[in-house]
Amino acid sequence: MKNPMPHPIPSAAAPPAAPARATGNPVPLWRLLQATASVVAAVRGGRSMTALLEVQPLALRPGVQALSFQVMRWLGRAQALRAQLARKAPPAAADALLCSALALCWDYERAPYSAFTLVDQTVQAARENKETRAQAHFINACLRRFLRERDELIRQTDADPLALWNHPLWWIQQLQQDHPNGWQAILTASQSAAPMTLRVNVTRSSVVDYLAQLEALGFSGRAVGPYGIELAKAMPVQQLPGFAHGVVSVQDAAAQWAAPLLLQGLDVQKPLRILDACAAPGGKTGHLLELCPTAQVVALDVDAQRGERVVQNLQRLQVQAQVVAADAAQPDQWWDGTLFDAILLDAPCTASGIGRRHPDVRWLRRQSDVKQLARIQSHLLQTLWPLLKPGGQMVYCTCSIFLAEGDWQIQTFLKHNTDAIFLPSPGHLMPQNDPMRPSLQDNQVGEHDGFYYALLQKRA
Ligand SMILES: C[S@@+](CC[C@H](N)C(=O)[O-])C[C@H]1O[C@@H](n2cnc3c(N)ncnc32)[C@H](O)[C@@H]1O
Repeated sequence: MKNPMPHPIPSAAAPPAAPARATGNPVPLWRLLQATASVVAAVRGGRSMTALLEVQPLALRPGVQALSFQVMRWLGRAQALRAQLARKAPPAAADALLCSALALCWDYERAPYSAFTLVDQTVQAARENKETRAQAHFINACLRRFLRERDELIRQTDADPLALWNHPLWWIQQLQQDHPNGWQAILTASQSAAPMTLRVNVTRSSVVDYLAQLEALGFSGRAVGPYGIELAKAMPVQQLPGFAHGVVSVQDAAAQWAAPLLLQGLDVQKPLRILDACAAPGGKTGHLLELCPTAQVVALDVDAQRGERVVQNLQRLQVQAQVVAADAAQPDQWWDGTLFDAILLDAPCTASGIGRRHPDVRWLRRQSDVKQLARIQSHLLQTLWPLLKPGGQMVYCTCSIFLAEGDWQIQTFLKHNTDAIFLPSPGHLMPQNDPMRPSLQDNQVGEHDGFYYALLQKRA
């Protein structure tokens, strides 16, 4: 496993600081730290990091993104350290800056710059912003003390699950309940960086051919599953041969299971009528059309803006679907009354399985969200099931690792719908499964997000 947890506390003999790593970025570090702290404050206020990063000025974006991801991953440790340094939190903007600095510099091996540089630049960032200027002295005192007493302070926070696992306590307890044998491995995996994985469009190329093309250009990767290539190193999509014309797409390896699972056993030569009920941004819609180009796909999403992204993605892949902005839970508003051969329900969920790619999600969710989303999922399942032909198939999936959004949801559904047959299904896939831990149930070894998949068939 790449990032063993809990992270070992560096001994007193550890080097005082990692050398600064040059980024070639002309923007001063204090400016990046300011922007990162404002992202942290906004996430704490309930806003998604993805949306916040999208609106960063271009010159700042790569730097702020790299720092924000690291801060989100280690915010639990930082919060615990801040509580040791000052019982009472300073005002929100100053606390976000202080915690960002602690998250970045507490672990010398992972620190993107030397701890001394980070402290220096954080204090500068505090001074340069009128929102935090009054606390610059306080931030300086806290961080200098951290540098002096680092080992001891880390040791004092080590018994705190928040510091140890960098997830909210309720989340840790939920995983302990749901996966008593695998919760540590799941939390550890969520701390790692996800690889960039591609899906090869089998109507244009093959995994073998595309790998060879990449290698000829000096990029390396490995095949994962029948359609996937995991790149050794992430790269801008514009550099991927044929990306603009739909030869490949970026999609996590676990997400690539949806389309083949739904089509399993169906005659893909026929013009199947398929509903993709929660389609945006269209990753799985595109895969369905690559595997079954003759399908008549209705791609639905309640969010019209996100629906636009389905249109763009399908254009790039040069495939067509009927893209509709509507609520799947209200078929009277969009359904023409013709039954579907297959339905994909990639339901809205807590996204607890994609912590590697979205380390802000754990801080955004509340415990009550699990129940609330499970109710929505159950309602969508019940509403869409009657739209399926007898003999037709439905895939229910979520990018969650909580049982309430996976196994339990489907068990309850099967109790109330005796015309549903549960076909062999992947079930819960754990993020980046570790082959050395057979206690984790998974059907595929490789680096992928956490997901749940159930394949249901309606009795003919
Ligand atoms: C997990 S994402 C889907 C990802 C997509 N299937 C893909 O592979 O690219 C869930 C989507 O469900 C949509 N959604 C949530 N509630 C919905 C509803 N009642 N009807 C239709 N779409 C809904 C959200 O807007 C979101 O785009």
